[in-house]
Amino acid sequence: MSADKLDKIVVIGAGTMGQGIARTIAETGTEVILCDLNSEILEKSLHLLSDALDRDIEKWGITASEKKAILARIKANSDCCECVKHAKMVIEAIPESRENKRELFRKLDGVCPPETIFVSNTSTLSISDLASATNRPEKVIGMHFLNPVHKVPLVEIVRGLQTSDATYKSIYDFAGKLNKTPVSVNEYPGFVTTRIIVPFLNEAMHVLMEGICSADDIDIAMKLGFGFNMGPLALADLMGLDEVMSWMENLYDELGEVKYNPCPLLRKMVRAGQLGVKTGQGFFKYDHEGNRI
Ligand code: NAI
Repeated sequence: MSADKLDKIVVIGAGTMGQGIARTIAETGTEVILCDLNSEILEKSLHLLSDALDRDIEKWGITASEKKAILARIKANSDCCECVKHAKMVIEAIPESRENKRELFRKLDGVCPPETIFVSNTSTLSISDLASATNRPEKVIGMHFLNPVHKVPLVEIVRGLQTSDATYKSIYDFAGKLNKTPVSVNEYPGFVTTRIIVPFLNEAMHVLMEGICSADDIDIAMKLGFGFNMGPLALADLMGLDEVMSWMENLYDELGEVKYNPCPLLRKMVRAGQLGVKTGQGFFKYDHEGNRI
């Protein structure tokens, strides 16, 4: 396979972030393949994407034909190994598990052409560590998009120890094509955004657990007091409480600092399956479209 035939962008993991990344790429007129474990999950993901675009038709005035064009550029495929054969870039957005992400990269390394760049959307894991599961560490890099991807104008570009300048440059240019402002980060647990936001969310959960204030009032205080768009508890619900907890655990494991130890209330909610917007119940309640009840 010659490198000029490598024209596919593949997003692996069609959950919250994978849907957002695929949509953002498709919005710029580029085709993208969205991959997940099976066709049922992919069907559900495309359905959620379609619903999200419908809401934007109502709220932000995108047209029905723009929606159709965006969805037409997203091709679902449940065979990850097959669809990466012509990939110039694979972006993984599977859950925040070191073992699973390393296993995925190891598997992809065996089937992707040597030129394919591997991008991870990890929030906390080491890019150098993920890269060491492959024989192409110079082609492995982090692109940390934030949720909701199509709205947040930022992406952190995270270089592992061996990421090459050429890989960095092509990902930096790609971020520009997606209309994102890139911030360059040298690898360190939690990068910039996750490292700073996690103790903030954790503290808000402790304030709630200690009965100091209601969930609503904690969010109102932080929004009105500091001009945030969203309060910490609504933000955690949007991110997914299981994801937030795994970021805290990874940072705690890596750095040993108590501020990252997940609040017991968060652990209890995750164990009970109350994961925030995606399950309809977190610190607040949500309808099936993700609106606060
Ligand atoms: P999610 O749980 O919503 O979606 C993950 C998807 O990956 C699921 O559809 C699952 O079926 C699929 N999957 C799991 N293993 C797979 C495999 N081996 N091959 C193909 N698909 C597989 O997770 P979410 O929230 O989208 O997070 C994904 C990544 O993005 C994580 O690394 C997370 O830390 C990161 N992230 C999440 C943010 C958030 O606000 N939720 C923000 C920024 C980054």
